[in-house]
Amino acid sequence: MGESVLTAGFAPADGALACEGVSLETIAHEVGTPVFIYSAGAIRDAYTRLDRVLAPVPHRLHYSVKANSSLAVLALVHSLGAGVDIVSGGELHRARLAGLTGPDIVFSGVGKTERELREALAAGILLFNVESEGELRLLDRVAGDMRLTAPVALRVNPEVSVDTPHHYTRTGERGDKFGVPYGDALAVGRLAFTLPHTRLLGLDMHIGSQVSSVDPYRDGMLRLLELVDDLRAAGAPDLRYLDIGGGLAVTYDAEDPIDLDAYAATVLPNAAASALKLLVEPGRYLVGNAGVLLTRVLYRKEGGGREFVITDAGMNDLLRPSHYNAYHRIDSVRPRGGRTRADIVGPVCESGDFVALGREVDDVRPGDLLAIRSAGAYGFAMSSNYNSRPRAAEVMVDGDRFAVITAREQYEDLVRRETVHPTWRTA
Ligand code: LLP
Repeated sequence: MGESVLTAGFAPADGALACEGVSLETIAHEVGTPVFIYSAGAIRDAYTRLDRVLAPVPHRLHYSVKANSSLAVLALVHSLGAGVDIVSGGELHRARLAGLTGPDIVFSGVGKTERELREALAAGILLFNVESEGELRLLDRVAGDMRLTAPVALRVNPEVSVDTPHHYTRTGERGDKFGVPYGDALAVGRLAFTLPHTRLLGLDMHIGSQVSSVDPYRDGMLRLLELVDDLRAAGAPDLRYLDIGGGLAVTYDAEDPIDLDAYAATVLPNAAASALKLLVEPGRYLVGNAGVLLTRVLYRKEGGGREFVITDAGMNDLLRPSHYNAYHRIDSVRPRGGRTRADIVGPVCESGDFVALGREVDDVRPGDLLAIRSAGAYGFAMSSNYNSRPRAAEVMVDGDRFAVITAREQYEDLVRRETVHPTWRTA
């Protein structure tokens, strides 16, 4: 199962790796490199798999925009039936451009600004996943100013133990900055249904990302269910939603992705027991394995006993290896057959700029194409212009067609908002 999911949408055809019916060589030739390439079919398949296992209970998938926020990706998941989970005014803007409307949107995030709260209230979003008492009070004031009532789900830190490949991606353990500490949740929840301009409609958690065990989902849900009971007993009049966040793991290497049947077996009875509508916020699960970063080998060199393959994609394009020490499989688009062990590094002027260290790969030559796998989530979305490198293009493939969904940045884009001649103001 791991292998078929990892390779979803990408398979060799006539000696070269293709995405669905389009050769990656064709895309490199027409669009250049580096380029992110997404399989629409793989995104559809992942959506369908997850949506199906949750079918026994009333539910909705709210795709987590941060994983891959390109407009065409948002429009695709929306066309499948998904709403979205946003974490900023910028993501709200994107979601609306992609055709999502207020009722499709839940808004998470530990530091929402007053401006963002106003924008989301004006958009009529489904839920604010409120993460602190301070945020709740500000939301109440802003909603009052706007003569509106703000729909609230309290994001609770369930304080369970969560295992993920890197501690940066754990969010549901005691002491994490996210959510209302479990011990304060009843009091803050009570406040949410007593304040004049907020309405407590649900509870929310998000325990972490790339979570492959169902245990923390079970533990977290049980804690939320206790709180649902306590809030009902305290007179909460209107609970409707139980949002259990995202985090479902995919396969990068040989590790197991989350077992969807086990996930369903854990989540469904608890969701049913709550009698609330289940919301889930998958990001990586829908898009992670559906994308590759296609890069061209610029040079080979040896030095100090190490072998280097230097590619035209760097840490500004794919930050995950240097930031989280994350593993991404690397395949030659047209394998030569021989093998070599090398550091696969980018052009950025940092020794931390690598895709893989000491990795056995095809014995590539300059000009060859490499597909860095499982780059559909947190790839382009985390890319930057570091070293004044224009950001890569993005391409979507659907069957035997492909389209550029994000044009490659040009040098002018890098300096569009800058000036050589500042307009000075006096204090
Ligand atoms: N909901 C909330 C409130 C989140 O903060 C996140 C991710 C998600 C949903 C979606 O999680 P997913 O289903 O994609 O695991 N940059 C890191 C991942 C950071 C995830 C942050 N929050 C990485 O590249 O691994």
